[in-house]
Formats: sequence, C-alpha cells, structure tokens
Amino acid sequence: MIGRLNHVAIAVPDLEAAMQSYSSMLGANVGAPQDEPDHGVTVVFIELPNTKIELLYPLGENSPIGKFLDKNKNGGIHHVCYEVDDIIASRDHLVSTGARILGTGEPKIGAHGKPVLFLHPADFNGSLIELEQA
Ligand code: CO
Repeated sequence: MIGRLNHVAIAVPDLEAAMQSYSSMLGANVGAPQDEPDHGVTVVFIELPNTKIELLYPLGENSPIGKFLDKNKNGGIHHVCYEVDDIIASRDHLVSTGARILGTGEPKIGAHGKPVLFLHPADFNGSLIELEQA
C-alpha cells in the first residue's frame, strides 16, 4: 500500500541554525521558511535527490511541535511521510486492520496542498507516520 518516502520531518528548536547547518555543513538545497498556521508550524523544505527533509518549527501558542520540543530539547525526528495512491482506501484498510488514525479520521490538507492523515505512533513502534495522497 505505501509507496515512496515523501519526507522525513525534523523538529528544530532554532530554525536559522538548522537551516544553516543543512546548507553550509551538509551542502543541501534549503528552501525559504513557510508559515502553516493551520498546522501550527513554520516549515522549511530541503530537496534531496530521492526525498525531502522538512524542518518544523513551532508557530503560535498550541503548536504540536512546541510540546515535542519540550520533551526533546535538541529537536529530533518528528514523523516520516509515506505516499499512498488513495488516502480514503488506505485509511479504511488501516482501520480494518486495527490501526488508529489521529484526529477526526478525515484527511486534512497538508503542507504540500495534498490530503494527509496521521497514524497513532503506538501502533508503529513509536514512530509518527503521515500518509499523503501523492
Ligand atoms: Co509531514
């Protein structure tokens, strides 16, 4: 069911410093920060030849990234995103196999303008999984 790895998202406590280290140390192609108020994050996309890295920085009061950074002071991998062809069929399959969908269970429009869902980390070895309809 899952296809390509769309991105790995990394929560960062200092966006400028993270952009700088990906750019000057790792030599990556680092984009400009984009505010995503609906998701409570500022995102920086880093294009790699085979996937993307997303740096996530808290935006606003109740950012989900703020809580993550409280527990992980230096930042850390926040989620991985896999592509699926049909997000509703994927969701229905997951629910039928006992996996839990976060939130309402209905897809939201993600940072790339495409429908996304998040799966409960407890069902996947502590890793938060995002599914994006590619
Ligand atoms: Co994501």
